[in-house]
Amino acid sequence: MLFEPLTLRSLTFPNRVWMSPMCQYSAAAEGPDTGAPADWHFAHLAARAVGGAGLVMAEATAVSAEGRISPADTGLWNDRQEEAWERITRFVAAQGVVPGIQLAHAGRKASTGRPWNGGGPLGPDDHGWTPVGPSPIPFSDAHATPDALTPAEIGKLVEAFATSAERALRAGFRVVEIHGAHGYLIHEFLSPHSNRRTDAYGGTFENRARFGLEVVDAVRAVWPQELPLLFRVSATDWLPEGEPAWTPGQTVMLAAELAARGVDLIDVSSGGNAATQKIPLGPGYQVPFAQQIRAEAGVPVAAVGLITEPEQAEEIVATGKADAVFLGRALLRDPYWPVRASANWPAQYRRGAPSPR
Ligand SMILES: Cc1cc2nc3c(=O)[nH]c(=O)nc-3n(C[C@H](O)[C@H](O)[C@H](O)COP(=O)(O)O)c2cc1C
Repeated sequence: MLFEPLTLRSLTFPNRVWMSPMCQYSAAAEGPDTGAPADWHFAHLAARAVGGAGLVMAEATAVSAEGRISPADTGLWNDRQEEAWERITRFVAAQGVVPGIQLAHAGRKASTGRPWNGGGPLGPDDHGWTPVGPSPIPFSDAHATPDALTPAEIGKLVEAFATSAERALRAGFRVVEIHGAHGYLIHEFLSPHSNRRTDAYGGTFENRARFGLEVVDAVRAVWPQELPLLFRVSATDWLPEGEPAWTPGQTVMLAAELAARGVDLIDVSSGGNAATQKIPLGPGYQVPFAQQIRAEAGVPVAAVGLITEPEQAEEIVATGKADAVFLGRALLRDPYWPVRASANWPAQYRRGAPSPR
């Protein structure tokens, strides 16, 4: 089943082994190429397309400069960035692979350093800026206190997501994924752990979901009807029961609402919004959430998280726990994971294919 095609709207994915979005922190942090994908991104994404992933999802790409996690993040808010992405999508599509991009705003977790430099918050002297969020609550004691967004600023960000989606289409992407997970801006609004607003964007489930749903409506309005729109959720904040938190039950409600508004598949991750989260890591630890959302909200899903073996991935798809799997670190270790599993090597590499034993 892993190597059976999957069709969403009018787009057919050649298989169900997909590359999970992974920030590379390798774009220029200043100058005219700020936020534009660089040669590193070309090599990184091109290699996974050659390696046979059915969907190559470009990393969390900011819809505005202050929405970057780090100053070295990619963006899609200007023409230069759009042109730079086009070079990558052309190559990926030429391999018969679907090029996708995750559109994101890092919210209160913006303005941090590269992970391999410690990943800590950056001040104005290090190309940093004051982050924004639903409420003036920092992610942790080490993080800056975000400025709470006004309704007018929220409206501008909704427009920014839509404008970036238009740019993504012109740049040749065929899938857009809205990043609603990992404690970034949309998740910050969803979760009562980070959202303490008392206006129309906080309080009830409906109010906390409002920003994310407005983003989906705005993107769906500009994204072609024949192309799929994906949404990544964190299914839970992994906080103790009784604490204000985002939970699997709320995720199921959100998933149904997203599907009604034209989201075609939910990409099911978890965590990232609370410094005190406790995650029971283990093989396929997020798969039960994907399975629950698929069963209870009746929407296609992709599973992600510590899926490392072809047999494991096959079982997830073949037993209907998910419609596709995203691989992250397994593809960093081995870009050829999909062609190894399918034994379907690109023509140029066939002489190097392992001989059958
Ligand atoms: C280097 C790295 C960068 C990541 N960047 C992103 C990102 O841009 N967007 C996102 O939603 N998840 C990001 N993640 C999470 C992965 O997409 C994936 O969900 C996670 O690594 C679990 O899957 P895995 O066990 O197959 O790696 C990143 C993970 C890694 C290792």
